[in-house]
Amino acid sequence: MSPTGSTRLAAVIGDPVRHSLSPVLHNAAFEALGLDWTYVAFEVAAGRSGDALAAVRALGIAGLSVTMPHKAAILDGLDDVSPVADALGAVNCVTNQRGRLVGDNTDAPGFVTGLAHDTSLDLAASRVVVVGAGGAARAVIRGLADAGAREVIVVNRTGDRARAAAALADDRGRVGDITDVKAADLVVNATSVGMGDQTRAVPFDPALIAPGQVVVDIVYEPQETRLLAELRANGVEAYNGLSMLLFQAARAFELWTGETAPVSAMSTAVRSVLAR
Ligand code: ATR
Repeated sequence: MSPTGSTRLAAVIGDPVRHSLSPVLHNAAFEALGLDWTYVAFEVAAGRSGDALAAVRALGIAGLSVTMPHKAAILDGLDDVSPVADALGAVNCVTNQRGRLVGDNTDAPGFVTGLAHDTSLDLAASRVVVVGAGGAARAVIRGLADAGAREVIVVNRTGDRARAAAALADDRGRVGDITDVKAADLVVNATSVGMGDQTRAVPFDPALIAPGQVVVDIVYEPQETRLLAELRANGVEAYNGLSMLLFQAARAFELWTGETAPVSAMSTAVRSVLAR
């Protein structure tokens, strides 16, 4: 559908942003539902998220995805922030509610919805180890705690970041070490090890995990990291980060449009781009 005079606009801001899969996900969703909306990417340099929010207000942009380096800085310019975004100190989604700009974090519930989509794990009965304590790991940890996970153990190279991240799960969170993965029902790699220039590396020894345990590697590019390949070769149930990517976008779509996200159309579109 070509834009018209009444087309509503959603966008992502970030730097870098040209590789973002968000336009693919959201435009596929608008198209599937026949909505007169379109989604574009704006390269916005660090320190300029306030200017971007002024543009959102002036132009009446309806929804904004926020990625690095703006996820924390943008909190200052919003009219309201959801409890989960406030706890994480990170916003990845802004909804323009008739001029009131409301920040949310859909990565946290998006991870949990993706997990429910991929697995049949009962989180209330699950001991989870999250490896990593950066922005992505923090969203996973908070999402798991909000969804009622029995225990969330955080393992990270840098100890003070691990302590701050574990605190996001309140009394169910603690810092652990890599041997804790042996007794976990679910292990999540939320480090950047396995992507970018670290594709040959594994975040932990896959031999620590046995069949019967579930692993999610939140990396989705490559779709099969070395960790996932070795785990699957050992008969372990293991998933990549595509579901988290998909369901964080689905939730943002629903906040902006009020419609149920067409998840399978979004999934097909993103998989076809990643397959290229
Ligand atoms: P993001 O916001 O994408 O999560 P980040 O905040 O830079 O990115 O966090 C990256 C995570 O990967 C951190 O947990 C980092 O560990 P540190 O907190 O110790 O820096 C982890 N990480 C990255 N490269 C790593 C490596 N080679 N070995 C172990 N952990 C690594």
